Amino acid sequence: MAGTSSTERGSWNSKLGFILAAAGSAVGLGNIWAFPTKVATEGGGAYLLVYLVCTFLIGFPVMVAELAIGRKSGKNPVGAFKSLSSNKFFPLVGLWGVICGVMILSFYTVIAGWAFGYAFEEIFFYFGWDAGANWLTDTSNGFRNAIIAAVFMIGTIKIIVGGVSDGIEKATKTMMPLLIGIIIIMIGYVMTQPGATEGVREYLLPDFSKITTGLIFSAMGQAFFSLSLGMGALITYGSYLNKKENIPQAAAMVTLADVGIAFLAGLLIIPAMYVAKNAGIEIFVGDQLASSTDLVFQILPALFHSIGGAAGLILGVVFFLLLSIAALTSTISLLEVPVSFVIDEYKVPRKKASWGVGLGVLVVSTIVAFNTSLIGTFDYIFSNLGLPIGGLLTCIFVAFVWKTDSAITEMEYGFAGIRQTLFSKVWPMFIYVICPLAILYNIITNFI
Ligand code: PFF
Repeated sequence: MAGTSSTERGSWNSKLGFILAAAGSAVGLGNIWAFPTKVATEGGGAYLLVYLVCTFLIGFPVMVAELAIGRKSGKNPVGAFKSLSSNKFFPLVGLWGVICGVMILSFYTVIAGWAFGYAFEEIFFYFGWDAGANWLTDTSNGFRNAIIAAVFMIGTIKIIVGGVSDGIEKATKTMMPLLIGIIIIMIGYVMTQPGATEGVREYLLPDFSKITTGLIFSAMGQAFFSLSLGMGALITYGSYLNKKENIPQAAAMVTLADVGIAFLAGLLIIPAMYVAKNAGIEIFVGDQLASSTDLVFQILPALFHSIGGAAGLILGVVFFLLLSIAALTSTISLLEVPVSFVIDEYKVPRKKASWGVGLGVLVVSTIVAFNTSLIGTFDYIFSNLGLPIGGLLTCIFVAFVWKTDSAITEMEYGFAGIRQTLFSKVWPMFIYVICPLAILYNIITNFI
């Protein structure tokens, strides 16, 4: 069954293509914009440590579960839950994922639009076109937000229309290596600047007294968001995965790529903040660090401007283009979830589904563009709460409805000896007990 449906629906051309597309989904604003800021504002090295624990102990097992569900069913999140059991509740979990995807995408494109606008701002600034530069950086200008978000969304739709291997796989295959290369070059530059070591210390030395329930909740939400878990993005990407591929290994590679880039982004941005401070740029408001929007969208441009000349211009343009590319590979996966749902469940051709859903999301984006205070609310409901809840219900589904043993049978394709490995003994324990309890505990303590 999966064979026929995967040829009709499209599939990845190569293992590397899948890894890069899934890593492209994972790596985005969450890594380069949100993660370094959360590290900086919520506990430095202590946050990094808790984040790593959440990623490997909660995120990775859930990712394996999502990929197995996706590949076995060969369907979008709603169709996947429907096809693996007759239980009427779980397709609603898939639907919740589709809704989270739409809502996250609606604000994600607005922030991605800011990043894209700033790349041009650097050029305008360099040539002294102040009016244009100011227009591009005015994040409170709803009209400007809406226009750039629309440009971004149309780019995303066009890639999705191209389909799985020609659109998504091809786009991410070139963008991901470029992204990693540019980050490394920029770290090299920032490290040579005065003030950088103070930032490195702040980033890497944990102060355990900073670990609180609030910090753990935030780090867990961040881990889900960053790994693109809990809303069926990896069920969808898994549905295009070939039976030859080794699911735990692919999940490990995607997790490592995501953590690796988040780590590198922290190593770039936190020292860059301290370089900026050293150069006399205000990074603290009172004793509080500037807000996340300010950090990346004000302090870094100020740093680029203070470097000045062609070097400042190139670094600024490249950094914001890189952020836009990272965001684009994530918006692709955010849009692919509702699009695959419409294609599978309503038999709509890909092109029509992509434009229909994409333009529908754009309407919500436009509302967000004019009311940016909605970003925080949507982020809280659909990312911080929505994704861990989706992850929790996915674990419950695999543990008690589909059964971990069926998932392991699915993983035997591409990993013949899996039943003899420690993984096959330990992973079910995580899905039955550790992940659900950790997620539940976190959500409850946060409310208390
Ligand atoms: N993982 C992306 C990021 O870190 O920016 C955001 C994201 C993409 C979340 C896709 C969820 C998703 F399904």
